Amino acid sequence: EPETINDLLDRLSEIVPDYPSAGISFKDLTPVFADPQGLRRIVDEIIAPFAGKFDVIAGLEARGFVLAAAAAYATGTGMITIRKAGKLPRAVHRDDYTLEYGTGTLELHRDDIAPGTRVLILDDVLATGGTVGSAARLLGMAGAQVVGIGVVLELQELGGREKLEGLEVHSLQLV
Ligand code: PRP
Repeated sequence: EPETINDLLDRLSEIVPDYPSAGISFKDLTPVFADPQGLRRIVDEIIAPFAGKFDVIAGLEARGFVLAAAAAYATGTGMITIRKAGKLPRAVHRDDYTLEYGTGTLELHRDDIAPGTRVLILDDVLATGGTVGSAARLLGMAGAQVVGIGVVLELQELGGREKLEGLEVHSLQLV
């Protein structure tokens, strides 16, 4: 029988105790990215629910870039880079968002995406939903249409999904 995506993620990811702080168990996905079957499976499964519904894929710095670039290549679409503040050289849309501790700022090049474009947002982890929410606002500023959010891991207790009301969120594994 083929291995389920849950079993694959449990087999290949590494649990790091007390990271980034005491009492937190961190599920590290870099071994999944590093595995040839692992990378292919997560990319194929993350885009499957949205097949035919998007024109371009947006990736969120930094780990979202891995998924978005691979998924864009696999589906013959382009990739939009949404970056932390100060990294993009031309005119940007800016959005401030709340982190678990403090605030962050994301930016999107104003002319990287045309109004009306249907966008799938990909990231590795949905936690509080602050990052994905910010990305959705940026794409809204550009007049694009966010058709879905795909993540590998969804940290359920942090309530990110509730914060993203009105957006279709698909995660590969609940943790
Ligand atoms: C992590 C993760 C998501 C975000 C999820 O990124 O990769 O992008 O946090 O958290 P949230 O739902 O509470 O916003 P981080 O900011 O650590 O950036 P990195 O990928 O560049 O390390």
